[in-house]
Amino acid sequence: MTIPDEDKPWSGRFTRPTDEFVEQFSASVHFDQRLYASDIRGSIAHATMLAQVGVLTVEEREKIVKGLENILIDIERGDFAWLRELEDVHMNIEARLIDRIGDVGKKLHTGRSRNDQVATDVRLYLRGETDAIVAALERLVAALVDVAEREADTIMPGYTHMQPAQPVTFGHHLLAWVEMLLRDRARMLDARRRVNVMPLGSAALAGTSYPIDRRITAKLLGFDAISENSLDAVSDRDFAIEFTSACALLMMHLSRFSEELILWSSAQFGFVDIGDAFCTGSSIMPQKKNPDVPELVRGKTGRIYGNLTALLTLMKGQPLAYNRDNQEDKEPLFDTIDTVRDCLRAYADMMPHVSVRRDAMKKAAGAGYTTATDLADYLVRKGVPFRDAHAIVGRSVRHAIEVGRDLGELTLDDLRRFSDRIDNDVFQVLSLEGSVSARNHLGGTAPAQVRAAAVRARERLAAKE
Ligand code: ARG
Repeated sequence: MTIPDEDKPWSGRFTRPTDEFVEQFSASVHFDQRLYASDIRGSIAHATMLAQVGVLTVEEREKIVKGLENILIDIERGDFAWLRELEDVHMNIEARLIDRIGDVGKKLHTGRSRNDQVATDVRLYLRGETDAIVAALERLVAALVDVAEREADTIMPGYTHMQPAQPVTFGHHLLAWVEMLLRDRARMLDARRRVNVMPLGSAALAGTSYPIDRRITAKLLGFDAISENSLDAVSDRDFAIEFTSACALLMMHLSRFSEELILWSSAQFGFVDIGDAFCTGSSIMPQKKNPDVPELVRGKTGRIYGNLTALLTLMKGQPLAYNRDNQEDKEPLFDTIDTVRDCLRAYADMMPHVSVRRDAMKKAAGAGYTTATDLADYLVRKGVPFRDAHAIVGRSVRHAIEVGRDLGELTLDDLRRFSDRIDNDVFQVLSLEGSVSARNHLGGTAPAQVRAAAVRARERLAAKE
């Protein structure tokens, strides 16, 4: 079915049909149709408000609402032909309503414009998607906290400059990711407050002369606030940019985490094994098992940065109020939503299938003189100034390298050649367990601290902190 040009909702002032390519070029229905549920919900609220203030009769409202509800059923059944000639989701649904219920359907758009309609739809949709993303993020955080608690005693090398630095517990390392993800959630929830503001009632840009009551529509649609300025409300898309920016940070974190999982699952590290269900093989090298999920998450991060840049650039230089440019907000926003939701899902699903090779971690932690700082701290406790202690330990490490041993493998006599303050109690200090459990303060890597931090992380997760 095609729509003759004179039947387009805005055809009155036109004498010539739309150029065929321009029609195709300007249509958005192929991507904005996903707003259908928000659009219908917004329209039902609008019609209900219009009836309450006496702009529509109760019967007119009933017909419109029934018609819209039936359209919703049709769409969800897959029984709705989206027409490019009708441009976008809004005009497709409105035209179908008029088709179904006749002239009364033409009253729905009273006191409203597509400009406030689309801004309302996008906000409603994004609010729901934000909640879904927050739920997915919470599932991942919960999975990470579980692994962290289980691995509170597992020792691994901590790195700076990608060189073994000091032993840490694997649980502590995982809780670092938990902290980042909890901040990401806080950013999402904060952005949501500014998403959940209702533009409806702003009409095209100046408001409307009908006696509307925006509090009624806001309440029906679950908006926490009503926009204060009609020009701003139809024009700005900063709420979408904020959301995408929070997503970009989240993806930056997931990308770094991915990089670690990729390194850790390599033959060279061998710290973790990612379950077969989350890897793929090579078509030529039979031995390969590749960490595809983290690699794809790392790769998809680029798309989100791209989407953020696209949205920022879209708004830059737009005069008030609505401009058609704003139709370009949807694809980057939708792609961001889909990508982030999928990445979080894949990660949360994968986490219980990551097995930990505790022996390999511990062996790596024992190599590379990672307890040298503990020896320096030991000397300080025995009264040696820290700078002198640093030099003494440096010489001890050089000696250990020369004789091909670890610090803890040197004899007491060996060690005493560098400082006579060293006694037999040094060996506990040089042990990996001694090193991690000595860092027993809030935010430290000691197993007891990790267990307590895991409990707190669960509480913060539940409290939406
Ligand atoms: N499809 C449009 C958008 O996404 C809807 C609003 C169009 N308004 C207009 N006056 N052309 O922004």
